[in-house]
Amino acid sequence: MMTSTRKAILTIDGQEPIELPILEPVHGHDCIDIRALAGKTGLFTYDSGFVSTASCSSKITYIDGERGELLYRGYPIEQLAAKCEFLDVAYLLKHGELPDAGQKKTFVDIIKTHTMLHEQIVRLYQGFRRDSHPMAVMVGMVGALSAFYHEAWDFSDETHRNISFNRIVAKLPTIVAMAYKYSIGEPFMYPRNDLSYAANFMHMMFGTPCERYEPNPVLVHALDTIFTLHADHEQNASTSTVRLAGSSRANPYACISAGIGCLWGPAHGGANEACLKMLEEIGDVSRVPEYIRRAKDKNDPFRLMGFGHRVYKNFDPRARLMQKICADVLRELELEDDPLFKLALELERIALEDDYFVKRKLYPNVDYYSGIVQKAMGIPTSMFTCIFALARTVGWMAQWEEMILDSEHKIGRPRQLYIGVPRRDVPPS
Ligand code: CMC
Repeated sequence: MMTSTRKAILTIDGQEPIELPILEPVHGHDCIDIRALAGKTGLFTYDSGFVSTASCSSKITYIDGERGELLYRGYPIEQLAAKCEFLDVAYLLKHGELPDAGQKKTFVDIIKTHTMLHEQIVRLYQGFRRDSHPMAVMVGMVGALSAFYHEAWDFSDETHRNISFNRIVAKLPTIVAMAYKYSIGEPFMYPRNDLSYAANFMHMMFGTPCERYEPNPVLVHALDTIFTLHADHEQNASTSTVRLAGSSRANPYACISAGIGCLWGPAHGGANEACLKMLEEIGDVSRVPEYIRRAKDKNDPFRLMGFGHRVYKNFDPRARLMQKICADVLRELELEDDPLFKLALELERIALEDDYFVKRKLYPNVDYYSGIVQKAMGIPTSMFTCIFALARTVGWMAQWEEMILDSEHKIGRPRQLYIGVPRRDVPPS
């Protein structure tokens, strides 16, 4: 980050103009550095929703919303999806570089040998209702890890941070798969360390003790790519939640649990589930115009789920990759005529020709096709956001660690614009 030779001059009625430095990033928008503003002027800035505010500096992920570009540590998402496995990407996000062959072997071995949960954690599942939403179970189970793994607790120590990262990345698939098995009343499947990260997850989700489960390699590859596409996404709501929680030096399991809670919302990671429900509700291409009309009606709360993005104002590169994965998976499963996929393509086509969506630069986002592909793979709707959370955990952990190591970081403490009742006295009794 460089300080520009340009300066922002702020003129406030009745006060001397003040100069504010401008910071220049490697890519993206210059930022006016307002850290000294309150001290110099007694004024705060107001930016509910962080529309114009950078909450931190970061070296991990970059999004160019106008060009539809997503980079992890400088590498375009398309190249990573084509050439790397998810665990390469996890290593990249954490360490800043892709692993060489030796580093990869060591990393994969470590992850594979930390996939089991403490047996007491496994018993915690019994405390949940069978019909609990698996995201609710995940919030609880991931938070509960902090009750079990607290011996490596000094986060100024790199070894302790690495242990936490490896543990949480290794155990998330087990936690998610067990939440699913619990919900359908099937026995938990313990991890198989001879399988890849994605294949082992499929084994734990779909295998039973009665017969050996052999994951389909096309589906394994698709799932691994889905993990890569969801691995990180800059300072979105859940990542900011993880950072804010971690800014108090809370332990990473608690922070990730907070991130999972935030991701669950339908405006964020819950959109894939909401999108599939929407497509099922629309049901037929003939009803698309009715739903497009509703999405445009300001008096109707309905929105086209899987459409629009705060940052992408051209297209979401993940959505393009996801559309291809979707086509590959449907072909493999001989579901090319899947009516929901056809409906989704048609809805996308009609929306993209509509002035309302064109003017507002609303395009399909990553969640638009991910529900269809996951459903085709046999993953139930309620598990979609869990899989998003599983993948995003590597990004959250990388962001958490970056914040811990940032010498400029302080506990997050936004200010507010108070608009409540002015000071008053309690009436005499
Ligand atoms: N359907 C209909 N209209 C929309 C939609 C939509 N999906 N998204 C935005 N708009 C309209 C909105 O009504 C507003 O119109 P106007 O200017 O006339 O008031 C305009 O577009 C701008 O919308 P906004 O709500 O100010 O934009 P935002 O940046 O605050 O919201 C969003 C971004 C993703 C929350 C929103 O587009 C949305 O709710 N989309 C549907 C949910 C969804 O798919 N979420 C997944 C996001 S991608 C996955 C992730 O990273 O979590």
